[in-house]
Amino acid sequence: MKPSLLIATFLSAFFNIHVLALRIATSLQWIEHTPQPYAIKNFYKGDSAATLMSGGVANLASDRSVDLAANAETQGLKQYSGHRNIRLIYIICEAGYRIVANKASGINTLADLKGKRIGTMAGTSAGYFVYKFLASAGLQPSDYRTVSGNVCMKAPCGSNTFPSMLKSGQIDAFGIWEPAPELGAQALGNNAIFFQNISIYREVYSLYSTTEKLNDPAMRKNIVAFVKALNQTLDVFTNKPDSVYSTVASAVGMDASVVKDVWPEHKWTGSWGPELLDFIAEEDQWLAKQDNRQAVSKADLAKFLDTSVLEEL
Ligand SMILES: *[C@@H]1O[C@H](CO)[C@@H](O)[C@H](O)[C@H]1NC(C)=O
Ligand SMILES: *[C@@H]1O[C@H](CO)[C@@H](O)[C@H](O)[C@H]1NC(C)=O
Repeated sequence: MKPSLLIATFLSAFFNIHVLALRIATSLQWIEHTPQPYAIKNFYKGDSAATLMSGGVANLASDRSVDLAANAETQGLKQYSGHRNIRLIYIICEAGYRIVANKASGINTLADLKGKRIGTMAGTSAGYFVYKFLASAGLQPSDYRTVSGNVCMKAPCGSNTFPSMLKSGQIDAFGIWEPAPELGAQALGNNAIFFQNISIYREVYSLYSTTEKLNDPAMRKNIVAFVKALNQTLDVFTNKPDSVYSTVASAVGMDASVVKDVWPEHKWTGSWGPELLDFIAEEDQWLAKQDNRQAVSKADLAKFLDTSVLEEL
């Protein structure tokens, strides 16, 4: 073979691999993402490799080489408002967020958070959680002060993180995804009190794609294979958690004992029921105000929830 032909052959092989490989954008820092690397390693049987890259659902809108993305419903809704080709196709995890508070600040009920300093992250699912949960106790945003800070995955937590800020008295409470609330409670000891109500709010950490990707038969086949692998993974995460604590811990830089402590706050659900539409419609109304845009109509949000891949498994 002539060198030029050899190079052409090599290039075309290289090109094909890159065209067909499933590229998945996901935040690599959180517990909720961990079924994805587990599924790729243990169960995925697509026509080509699947690779994870750091990112999220915003990458689906901006980078056509990205095929799938995983993020909370909050980020999914923010992107869907401007990119109506995005589809939510699977639920990897439903995470019951918690507020942890310091009883020494006089907090024994959710309503006691009136007038208090509450740590959370604006513009994220945690910001919406704090707003919605406190509204259920009759508190409006003017009734409390939110304070920004960082999360912590493993003790000892740095001084600018919520668990440290709670312990040092800079804040009276905070609400965000795990394990920060758990680490905050462990740091406080007997003065810690948790508040949670998953029927009011839980994070719906989901897998997304686009109509273009789902309509491409070769791509769709690999997407279905990946979702099938995820479904097998969720079975392990649900029914044999002891076998994955250490894998999850090392993937996100946690202690395995803390992974075990927060495991009950994570449900590895996969599919969803009809109530999800009302849940996201209510959230989108709130996000629309925050982002100064029109809320998406319920009819259009119904299109966002695409069960067709689940039906193919
Ligand atoms: C959670 O919220 C729902 C709806 O507001 C309410 O009916 C239920 O009693 C709450 N559950 C707990 C444990 O507070
Ligand atoms: C997903 O996994 C569960 C648990 O193993 C299984 O019962 C279910 O049939 C699977 N769903 C599909 C659509 O394959």
